[in-house]
Amino acid sequence: MGDKKMSVVILGATGDLTRRLLFPAIYHLYAHGEWVPTSIIGYAMEDWSQDKFCGHIEENLKRFVADFDPAVWAKLKAFVFYQPGDLTADSLSRLKSQVEGPAVFYLGLPPQLFAQAAQGLGQAGLNEEIAGWRRLVIEKPFGWDLASAEELGKSLEPWWKEDQIFRIDHFLGKDTAQNVLVFRFINRLLESIWNGAHIAQVQITYAETLGLEGRWQYYDKAGALRDMLQNHLMQLFALVAMETPSEWNALNLHNHKAEVLRAVRKIGEGEVARYAVAGQYTSGLIQEKAVPGYTQEEGIPQSSTTETFAALKFYVDNWRWHGVPFYLRSGKRMAADYAEIAVQLKPVPPKMFDEGLADWLVFRLKPDEALNLVMWAKKLGLELKTEQVILTAPYKKAGEDDYSAYEQLLLDVLKGDQSAFPRFDEVEEAWKIVDPVLKAWSRQSPQTYAAGSLGPEGQNRLMDSGLAWRGLEMPK
Ligand code: BG6
Repeated sequence: MGDKKMSVVILGATGDLTRRLLFPAIYHLYAHGEWVPTSIIGYAMEDWSQDKFCGHIEENLKRFVADFDPAVWAKLKAFVFYQPGDLTADSLSRLKSQVEGPAVFYLGLPPQLFAQAAQGLGQAGLNEEIAGWRRLVIEKPFGWDLASAEELGKSLEPWWKEDQIFRIDHFLGKDTAQNVLVFRFINRLLESIWNGAHIAQVQITYAETLGLEGRWQYYDKAGALRDMLQNHLMQLFALVAMETPSEWNALNLHNHKAEVLRAVRKIGEGEVARYAVAGQYTSGLIQEKAVPGYTQEEGIPQSSTTETFAALKFYVDNWRWHGVPFYLRSGKRMAADYAEIAVQLKPVPPKMFDEGLADWLVFRLKPDEALNLVMWAKKLGLELKTEQVILTAPYKKAGEDDYSAYEQLLLDVLKGDQSAFPRFDEVEEAWKIVDPVLKAWSRQSPQTYAAGSLGPEGQNRLMDSGLAWRGLEMPK
């Protein structure tokens, strides 16, 4: 980024996101020489002094940055400022004297404050691109359902143009997400088989052993479908399924992603039980340690019917994907921290070799991002027997720098590159897919699954005949 002058203003700077993710990312970008800020201004309601804010950030950097170097922080600190204030235009306009040139306004706030903050900044004139660009970064979730997402979209319109808005979906900053596109579009071998003639099914799984991590206030309102599937997994799906753009640029990527999301066959409210499964964890063992059930977690009402596991099946009504089922699932307190996008090819005709042998292409997100091609070959020996062979390409080689998704995305915001930020119509289309499911689930209780298990039994009934969910482990 050289030393281009620009400021970053973080609204909600005393919150969890800033200390855990944002500042560590800022620190790394600075430490690696990727960015020299003009100023980083923390803005929040707390009546803190500059010293108190810096002390708070330092304490958390020590906690969240493995290679924290006090000398780097001493230099970075010179750019860090704090200003207390609320979200009224009056209060926000006090930022004007500190922010002169290009600036990013990062809403690290609870979602219910996004509209108010964006509007306040606009009324204060901080959106005006007179002395340089002005950008607004909005965290997820963008709305709670289709109607509220549309309302939020509308409330931004008078103040911020689409090319000023960067909606964060941190999964798009992950290397694996980006590699789905690169791998698909750079290797000639893939395009000819990337369709329903050759692909039997696609499974996208994001399993976590983690529970609520103190986020019960947010999570009990959100649930797994809103927290993971509507945004992260739906974006991964769009990357796998989108048409091939003629040129790599943000406009093409957005157009093609929105198009394939629009082509998803919508689940009717009466069909939800056939296409979606909700689960909630009960007590169990995670890495041999007893953990409480969801409704025994701190802050969660005993009667909560929030789902901590969600699985969805859908089809895409276009030429490429006709007849191919896509399965998406994510859950908390599952047996393993394991995440992958797995694409299964159709089996070869039977009778030649053992029946049912099919290849998988697996983009692994966790643990250790990697690409696995699971195929079959002749087993060594005198008989004609087959065995599975796995070709593995890890992304990160020893000694290579590892950038977090937040670093990648923050840098993109500074560069003005919107490719990895969902456009409004993508978000809207994703809500259209999950909205009927949310409505149906609001009237019913999720199935239960024991913490540390593979999720609720019911997920298996989503599978088309002859297909099964993959395990939560690396291909062996
Ligand atoms: C967040 C969800 O967006 O993504 C969390 O709100 C989830 O519930 C997290 O744990 C998973 O992402 P990562 O990158 O931390 O594995």
